[in-house]
Amino acid sequence: MKFSQFEPSRTQEAITLFRNVFSASEGEAEGRVIADFVAKLIHTTEQQDLIGCVAELNDRLVGCIFFSRITVPNGQSAFILSPVAVSTELQGTGIGQKLIQYGLDHLRSVNVKLAFTYGDPGYYCKTGFQPINENIVKAPCPLSQPIGWLAQSLDGQAIQPMVGATRCVEALNDPSLW
Ligand SMILES: CC(C)(COP(=O)(O)OP(=O)(O)OC[C@H]1O[C@@H](n2cnc3c(N)ncnc32)[C@H](O)[C@@H]1OP(=O)(O)O)[C@@H](O)C(=O)NCCC(=O)NCCS
Repeated sequence: MKFSQFEPSRTQEAITLFRNVFSASEGEAEGRVIADFVAKLIHTTEQQDLIGCVAELNDRLVGCIFFSRITVPNGQSAFILSPVAVSTELQGTGIGQKLIQYGLDHLRSVNVKLAFTYGDPGYYCKTGFQPINENIVKAPCPLSQPIGWLAQSLDGQAIQPMVGATRCVEALNDPSLW
């Protein structure tokens, strides 16, 4: 298994991976929603605000994750992980956790201080995320599942309460995704 940074030349392969994986797990309609979201994320996000990481097996994309910049009130460098997909037939073999760890290590290497995500705490806690109350850091959009708002510090310092709004990139600034 090889882990590396996402290259724009693999855009169509990544979109197809997300569509296939989410169609299999959540149904075709959700597969299309996620594929459209990934396409928008890649096409509308400034290069410095988007970090993708991929897992490859024999040159085939079998895992993909994206981190996009999130602007928090205290100005710390922060990214949010969303979305995440591992090829259906390879799920449950550790690729997702290894790919997320690879991505978090990359964020640390470029001095990012905070990572957020929005999803199942049971899964994301395996890679260091913890539920975070909106009294500490507000989410960019109203949350349909507040328990899924998760964060981790990447520099060992406790996350300090922040007052004010949080902003995400345009593709994520869609209340239906939250
Ligand atoms: C969720 C997903 C990314 C996990 O990647 P993975 O490579 O299959 O997971 P790993 O092998 O790294 O980890 C497996 C562990 O996570 C758990 N797990 C896997 N998917 C989970 C999910 N959707 N919710 C909660 N736990 C999950 C497994 O039970 C397993 O736990 P164990 O180690 O205690 O046995 C992958 O299954 C996937 O692409 N699913 C469909 C798309 C999706 O739901 N993406 C996440 C939302 S963006």
